[in-house]
Amino acid sequence: MVWWQNAAIYQVYPRSFRDSNGDGEGDLNGVIAGLDYLESLGIDAIWLSPFYKTPNKDGGYDVSNPRDVDPRFGNLADAENLIRESHRRNIKIIVDIVPNHFSTEHSWFQEALNAPSQSQERARFHFYDGRGESGEIPPNNWNSIFGGPAWTRIKESNGEAGQWYLHLFDSSQPDLNWDNTEVMEDFKKTLRFWLQRGVDGFRIDVAHGLVIEDIHKDHADPEGLSAALRLDVLMDPAKRNELLASNPFFDRDGVHEIYRKWRKLFDSYGDRDIMAVAEIWVQPPTRATLYVRADELHQFFNFDVMNSPFESKDLYENISNTLKLVQAENAWPTWCLSNHDCERVASRIGSDAARAMALFVLALPGSTYIYNGQELGLPTGEMADSDRQDPIYFRTKGDEKGRDGARVPMPWSGESSPFGFTSGKPWLPLQSTWREYTVENELKESDSSLNLYRKALRIRKEYLKGAGEITWLSTEGVLSYQRGKVTVILNTTYTSFPFSGEVLLSSHKIQNTLPPKSAVWLIKN
Ligand code: NOJ
Repeated sequence: MVWWQNAAIYQVYPRSFRDSNGDGEGDLNGVIAGLDYLESLGIDAIWLSPFYKTPNKDGGYDVSNPRDVDPRFGNLADAENLIRESHRRNIKIIVDIVPNHFSTEHSWFQEALNAPSQSQERARFHFYDGRGESGEIPPNNWNSIFGGPAWTRIKESNGEAGQWYLHLFDSSQPDLNWDNTEVMEDFKKTLRFWLQRGVDGFRIDVAHGLVIEDIHKDHADPEGLSAALRLDVLMDPAKRNELLASNPFFDRDGVHEIYRKWRKLFDSYGDRDIMAVAEIWVQPPTRATLYVRADELHQFFNFDVMNSPFESKDLYENISNTLKLVQAENAWPTWCLSNHDCERVASRIGSDAARAMALFVLALPGSTYIYNGQELGLPTGEMADSDRQDPIYFRTKGDEKGRDGARVPMPWSGESSPFGFTSGKPWLPLQSTWREYTVENELKESDSSLNLYRKALRIRKEYLKGAGEITWLSTEGVLSYQRGKVTVILNTTYTSFPFSGEVLLSSHKIQNTLPPKSAVWLIKN
């Protein structure tokens, strides 16, 4: 079995994990300082959200140099040190790669601004003349996923209003033109750059983007088109699916050609078993499996379970469908309950259900992603609007609060905010009530969420790695499956459920009955 197929992968959002130098923002040396903690948690790999050079208009997903480290996070030597120190502890490293767009501060974009229209420099992005008498109407009517128009008009070097460039996200994130071979060559260079430094895999941002069709056509529903990835819509599957199903800039067939080329590059590293996991939002779900064909990427994120209500019908359907889909391609599923873009699971479904869900997904085949702080049962952070930094908040003029709540830094120790995260002022405020969630406190409390994850990851290694497929035992109200020697039961109902068997681990204190919103692992001897 290859390392990533069953790995427990911990997502570090570097800005929020741990600050080593007192500037209020987490950094790579902070991650190094947290490695002992991660090792004892029992994870197999770390996925690092971007730490590259960035003006940080979108939490580092606006990259101005993908082959260098932003000073706020440290330097290249720190990154190399982190990779080395992780490997020393048998922890693999997955880094983010952001191919849909660069930052406007990337040298390519700056060169494009200074070059004439139709130039080679502009051809790396999507620059077009506007419509109307004097080009004052954007080339099409698309909206940005973060709100507002998807086009920004530039000033030409003579000071006059000129061409427009496309940005499906913030105006600081110009979309790259993947029809241009220079773009492919540059990304190959970036992949090799990090592979030479020892990374073991990549998380591909907006992997279903990149290829754009019908750029000269207006869309019948420009609002809807861009809303497909917004938080409120994501939580509403029917609406989301309708919006994703036909979208000129997502999930176009041409994107697969790109990944086939990347796959050749990954495979050229032979027994290092380099992997790539795709962030994709596609519809219908069968489209997702195209990304994990044998000559493409290795895995895609499964957001259906992450966004699912705590209802047996939805959970059963989402999990069983995912398993069927990936099996058909001979691929491996992924499971996650939280990430830096969504409400934290403890807030979304409540802390009891979050503990129960953790046990339910941690026993499934495939890899499992744990977002930093999730193991502590951390809720979404609250803050004043004046603290917000997410471009979604600004571009929707405050209609949407954005994702900052999921990015509030981790509480480590002590009695008061910022709870050992930094010796300075944290970039987002930690709640004064978070004392109970600190790593220090949860290590002491035997029933804490942290100790539940530690035990679960240990048992997972011992009993579940390579345990094969699951067999469903019960698919309504109380969900249950068998995997290897372990029986997993999740109670999504409002009444207690009597069970018998030897308990390996339970999400709550139990005695022969499973209360609502709890789960148990039983062992067959
Ligand atoms: C998905 C990332 O997870 C998110 O944080 C980012 O804003 C967008 N892609 C754009 O890069």
